[in-house]
Amino acid sequence: MKILITGGAGFIGSHVVRRFVTTYSNYQIVNLDKLTYAGNLENLLDVENSANYKFVKGDIVDADFLQNLFDTEQFDAVIHLAAESHVDRSISNPIEFVMTNVVGTVNLLNAAKTSWKGSYNSKRFYHVSTDEVYGSLGEGTEMFTETTAYDPHSPYSASKASSDHFVRAYHDTYGMDCVISNCSNNYGSFHFPEKLIPLSIHNIKQNKAIPIYGKGENIRDWLWVEDHARAIDVIFHKAKTGSTYNIGGHNEWTNIDLIRTLCKVMDKKLNREEGTSEKLITYVTDRAGHDLRYAIDATKLKKDLGWEPSLQFEEGLEKTVEWYLKNEKWLNNVTSGNYQHYYEEQYQNR
Ligand code: NAD
Ligand code: DAU
Repeated sequence: MKILITGGAGFIGSHVVRRFVTTYSNYQIVNLDKLTYAGNLENLLDVENSANYKFVKGDIVDADFLQNLFDTEQFDAVIHLAAESHVDRSISNPIEFVMTNVVGTVNLLNAAKTSWKGSYNSKRFYHVSTDEVYGSLGEGTEMFTETTAYDPHSPYSASKASSDHFVRAYHDTYGMDCVISNCSNNYGSFHFPEKLIPLSIHNIKQNKAIPIYGKGENIRDWLWVEDHARAIDVIFHKAKTGSTYNIGGHNEWTNIDLIRTLCKVMDKKLNREEGTSEKLITYVTDRAGHDLRYAIDATKLKKDLGWEPSLQFEEGLEKTVEWYLKNEKWLNNVTSGNYQHYYEEQYQNR
């Protein structure tokens, strides 16, 4: 089987690529990524020379390029993760999100449809989406299920909701074998330090302010990224065509409680007196349209396919902090911008 994984140089995509390349030596994995600021080939150093792995630099917004790639490679399946993924950037530049997340997804669906010539036997289009499409929950105990109505609020979540609708439309209209999963907030290694957890780890290390939006009372449901990659593996192989699965950690934290816990872990790991890092917490202007709470009910995934998260959050957070402290070079290359030269230095003349 030859699988196209899009966005494989990003945070979650790199974990999915690593899992598929190392677990399934009989699969050919092609990683297609534009290498935007969020794409980093240094996330994949351990698998880049594997015989069943190939990297292609390209933009999913370019329909002709995509069609050529499908014609040449004859993919059996697509796992689509490429996206603009940061809510704050979507507020300042929504059109980029429409282009990549909506137009890019429709281009991929079209390229797959043309390449597979309407015959979807042993073919699959897997679209990786987010819980943000469901909107915002109140402070109670209600959770998002697969039947919760879509109610996106940010340009990012609106673009992901739109892409989900297109994927369903290709299943319903053309009979394409499509599956979708909607996951909660991920954390772990190779996470770009613009998102809350890696940004805070970086700032604590540098003794810089930790920006907390509003009062820090917003709630997110955190899942270890390797558990997400394992869920994608299970859904890709076992889900029925046309199905949707929610993926989540059953692990809700207010931002402020999470950051206080992180500060304690960082103090311990950096041999600082307890309470040192907490002093860096700085309340800043709230994100516009900031969703109050996300919480995923992943019962369907457990019941149908037997998936459950493997790590307790405290253990995962400690592992994550240890990874960032041990991988100083990765973090320095990201913050200095050096990572953006890796493709020219190592790939262009291959
Ligand atoms: P990321 O921003 O770390 O990585 C996105 C990748 O897509 C990058 O490598 C980037 O170069 C690539 N890309 C962007 N535009 C492209 C284009 N036009 N053509 C080709 N490649 C392009 O994102 P992530 O956090 O790893 O998220 C991956 C997917 O999972 C996204 O679809 C996101 O919506 C979804 N998701 C993320 C989370 C989370 O917590 N991070 C949770 C649920 C779902
Ligand atoms: O829920 C899944 C989504 O999780 C994914 O679809 C997105 O791609 C991913 O970026 C993430 O979105 P969030 O907006 O929840 O993640 P972020 O890390 O940006 O913010 C987490 C929470 O922390 C959110 O309530 C905003 C807040 N925050 C964030 C940053 C960057 C702060 O308080 N300060 C910050 O500096």
